[in-house]
Amino acid sequence: MSAGFVTERLAGAVGVARAAVLLREGKLVAFGTETVYGLGADATRPDAVAAIFAAKGRPHFNPLICHYADAEAAFADVVADATARLLAARFWPGPLTLVLPRRVTCRVALLAGAGLETLAVRVPAAGQDLLRAFGGAVAAPSANRSGQVSPTSAEHVLAGLSGRIAAVLDGGPCPVGVESTVLDLSAGRGFLLRQGGVPEEAIVDAIGPVGRGITPGQAETTRNLRSPGLLVSHYAPGLPVRLGATEAADDEAALAFGALPSGGAARFQLSSGEDLAEAASRLFEGLRWLDRAGLRGIAAGPVPDRGLGRAINDRLQRAAAPREGPR
Ligand code: TXA
Ligand code: MG
Repeated sequence: MSAGFVTERLAGAVGVARAAVLLREGKLVAFGTETVYGLGADATRPDAVAAIFAAKGRPHFNPLICHYADAEAAFADVVADATARLLAARFWPGPLTLVLPRRVTCRVALLAGAGLETLAVRVPAAGQDLLRAFGGAVAAPSANRSGQVSPTSAEHVLAGLSGRIAAVLDGGPCPVGVESTVLDLSAGRGFLLRQGGVPEEAIVDAIGPVGRGITPGQAETTRNLRSPGLLVSHYAPGLPVRLGATEAADDEAALAFGALPSGGAARFQLSSGEDLAEAASRLFEGLRWLDRAGLRGIAAGPVPDRGLGRAINDRLQRAAAPREGPR
């Protein structure tokens, strides 16, 4: 699948400087954040943003998250109310994305926001060195081919995008391992569009009750997607996934959380001590690894639906959902 050039593998301070130069040239650079690797481009350049969709093979122009070095830079592009400022003070830098109205002066390409009047912004805890060196907004979806599992290491990025992007800046494995929580504040009241690295409980603790995004089931029936990237089968490994399994068959691969499921011909342990943060950080690695085992399917053990377990269950439900084509 080579597009005719070699993807540079960058690391360290020299790598950061080189990556910033490439971004300024309108090239695509994958970089590590605390959640997953992002496929970054200069958000103000429509050509660079369009290249993201092409490299990912995204069928639609889903809106992208813009990444900034700090809240001040982010809030120069969107209108932040008191709630947004409170959340930024508490959770940034960190795995929280806020959807807010664009400012009229916002220079981010309309394509990055898929033409919406809102823009998703975030200040990640990792990847800061690149964002500072570049000095502007970096539009970045997860650095995987459309429909595939998000990458949590530079190797995962290269497995899907080698030869299709200019470079990957190796920041090591992603410590959180699931994507950021996406909270829409543009309608006045908080609306949770995606469970992610900041647990819903922590958001509610900060700002009180929030509305919920539509469930995968509702999305399936209505297709009325408030957040177009939240396609039901968005996070699908190749093998079919069976949820809440207490036992895995002899021809199944087991994705274990503690003791469950038992059995299975191949086994990936998310967290033997049932630690949800450890499990989240290993989830996508586990799905990739079990996929390669080439068995009949993946039997996933039950994960408690609290804290980071909510994001884990959301991704597993999407992995288990009937596949939408083309992905
Ligand atoms: O952790 C993350 O969020 C990673 C890292 C790279 O930052 N990024 C990521 O991007 O997961 P992506 O493109 O895979 O998911 C972005 C999500 C999609 O579900 C998209 O629909 C939603 O954010 N989104 C972006 N802009 C939006 C907007 N203006 N309104 C509603 N949803 C939006
Ligand atoms: Mg993604």
